[in-house]
Amino acid sequence: MPRYIVLLGPPGAGKGTQAKLMIEKTGLVHISSGDIFRENIKNQTELGQLAQAFINKGELVPDDVTIAMIQERFSRPDCAQGAILDGFPRTKAQAEVLEKMLEGFDGQVDLVPFITASEEVLVERLGGRWSCRSQGHVYHEKFNPPKRSGSCDLDGSELYQREDDKAETVKRRILVYMKDTSPLIAFYTRQGKLIKIDGAQPIEQVTEVLVDALKSKKII
Ligand code: AP5
Repeated sequence: MPRYIVLLGPPGAGKGTQAKLMIEKTGLVHISSGDIFRENIKNQTELGQLAQAFINKGELVPDDVTIAMIQERFSRPDCAQGAILDGFPRTKAQAEVLEKMLEGFDGQVDLVPFITASEEVLVERLGGRWSCRSQGHVYHEKFNPPKRSGSCDLDGSELYQREDDKAETVKRRILVYMKDTSPLIAFYTRQGKLIKIDGAQPIEQVTEVLVDALKSKKII
């Protein structure tokens, strides 16, 4: 039976960091809507050019564009065994489409870890984040520094700071999250799928809580 996990939480809470750690533990594929957009921006595709304007302002990419992109990703065979979704869904409309899509795989959303932290923590996290150009591995100059400044420990590629991690854009992203995405907390709580995780803890402790939750749902 395929298993699907939706990582929910504000920008900078640690969704991407934990998703990458969960790949090995679960054997599931990691689908990050933000990474797919950034890959398209890097390659200057039509989708990338469209998305870039929204992302750089800290706004959501429109639902129809985002949903079409995720549907294309789900058309690939690796999603049939399950997936860790990071950054999707982000609106009620996206969550409803996801339910229908998973029915097509005889699946459903099994668990929604909601990783959260105070605005002060989020701003500090995003201000100090460095990402690798080749595969999006994530570091933090204070909390999770690379062994060699400026290069990724895992693949040696250059580290860069995301355009949308500028202070004023981060503020906008947090507001957009509150307005458009936070209603999903109630949506998944009603379904009995949400577990709240204190994302202000160190990375390893967040992982421990997450692993316990996955075990309790027999996902690992
Ligand atoms: P996306 O890339 O999804 O960004 P986000 O959701 O804002 O999340 P982030 O990647 O900023 O943070 P994160 O929670 O993954 O934190 P991370 O692990 O990196 O989306 C970008 C944009 O794309 C959106 O704004 C929107 O425009 C568009 N978009 C994407 N999906 C969309 C959708 N579905 N619909 C419409 N538009 C969409 O950690 C952050 C930093 O903190 C790192 O430096 C990390 O090393 C550090 N850190 C992590 N955990 C800890 C910890 N426990 N302790 C200390 N430091 C930590």
